[in-house]
Amino acid sequence: MADLEITVDVDECIGCGACVTEAPETFDMNDEDKAFVKEPPHDEQDMILAGAEACPTDSIKVVDKATGEVLYPLD
Ligand code: F3S
Repeated sequence: MADLEITVDVDECIGCGACVTEAPETFDMNDEDKAFVKEPPHDEQDMILAGAEACPTDSIKVVDKATGEVLYPLD
């Protein structure tokens, strides 16, 4: 798997938990019901991207660290 930089914008996160459902070894919820990224993430890249895509508020950004390519969100 590519080395990914995964970030959650906690100001945008509404705590719906869809990211955790899609990629439970990558995302988890904190005590304030906001998602955070587990280090290191253990899901396959497809699952991580599915988690990002499932977020209703587009709070998750995924970047390939090696190339700088933004894998999510796409334009
Ligand atoms: Fe938050 Fe979006 Fe996950 S609202 S809990 S980052 S699916």
